[in-house]
Amino acid sequence: MNSRERFIAALNCQPLDRPPIWVMRQAGRYLPEYRALKEKFSFLELAQTPELALEVTMQPLRRFPLDAAILFSDILVIPEAMGQGYHFREQGGIGMDYTLENRDQIEKLTSSSIEEKLSYVADALKLISAELDGSKMLLGFGGSPWTLATYMLEGGSSKDFAKVKALFYQDRPTFELLMEKISDALIAYFRMQKAAGADAIQIFDSWGGIISGEDYEAASLKWIRKIVDAVRDEVPMIIYAKGTTPQLARQAACDPKAISVDWTIPIEEAAARIPSHIAIQGNLDPVLLDTKPEIVRANATRILQAMKDRPGHIFNLGHGIHPTARIENMETLVDTVTSWNQ
Ligand code: CP3
Repeated sequence: MNSRERFIAALNCQPLDRPPIWVMRQAGRYLPEYRALKEKFSFLELAQTPELALEVTMQPLRRFPLDAAILFSDILVIPEAMGQGYHFREQGGIGMDYTLENRDQIEKLTSSSIEEKLSYVADALKLISAELDGSKMLLGFGGSPWTLATYMLEGGSSKDFAKVKALFYQDRPTFELLMEKISDALIAYFRMQKAAGADAIQIFDSWGGIISGEDYEAASLKWIRKIVDAVRDEVPMIIYAKGTTPQLARQAACDPKAISVDWTIPIEEAAARIPSHIAIQGNLDPVLLDTKPEIVRANATRILQAMKDRPGHIFNLGHGIHPTARIENMETLVDTVTSWNQ
């Protein structure tokens, strides 16, 4: 069984000797070969040049026997294609080129011609898919509408999310207009990714946890459901949720193929709240990769043990890998999972 077959079996909740493993932001700053490319090219050049996006996507796979590749790109390509560009702030974090401040600006955003504007993503996926040739799972992704709206309304990375919440609570029709537009853009984008070779798509609801639990449905989950309903029959969907464990049963009711959980819940408790036909991905705290190999091995083994009788587990971090992660810890993690049960 190759990596791709293993991943698909896990998504279908079939029993396996060991779970497949991949990590998020695996192409990030912890790899010296990535930092070397960043000396020569900006993030946007890397993401927008299909040959370079292929190279960055493949870098971690050359080092570690991971079971999946994740497209090198960013969730913010969608606001950009809708008419609101982004950049990296000098002091770190993301800045949008302007902030959405009124209904007029939201009306001007467009959900059309996404495939044309993001054709470089399709071109990158085609190159990656050809290179992998069915040996590894190829994951595409996008942000949840709510998570994207936080960047678009706050003007970039935010500390208190006051503006996105203000719109949600004070002008629901305008909030919904924005969410409809983002959702439509994402549906077109995910179909394009599938056609270009993505085997599954992960929706990052990274900021789902900042809204009141009472309002999670109206602010975020409703729009995720709309997207999952639209594309479920075309491509397997994984919902990544951060800080939203109280919402697990509601997320499961959207019937995605898998739910990816952060580290705030023991994984077996998450498993108990998710129906057995939905796979679970997670949930090692990424900070552990800054520590020592023996700590990584002990914590990864605990997760493997906890999930050994629950078919449908994909080993993953609870969030993206940190730039400070140590390579030897990543090696230990991948070795712990790939040698499990052998
Ligand atoms: O996992 C992968 O390598 C796939 C590519 C990927 C990136 N971003 C590349 C990236 C994925 C899946 C993302 C998702 C993403 N981007 C999310 C959702 C996941 C999450 O982290 O919650 C969000 C919120 C973003 C927006 C974004 N992009 C942020 C907040 C940052 C960090 C900015 C900073 O200065 O800390 C980025 C930058 C980014 N996206 C990097 C990478 C590899 C680091 C870029 C660099 O410094 O070289």
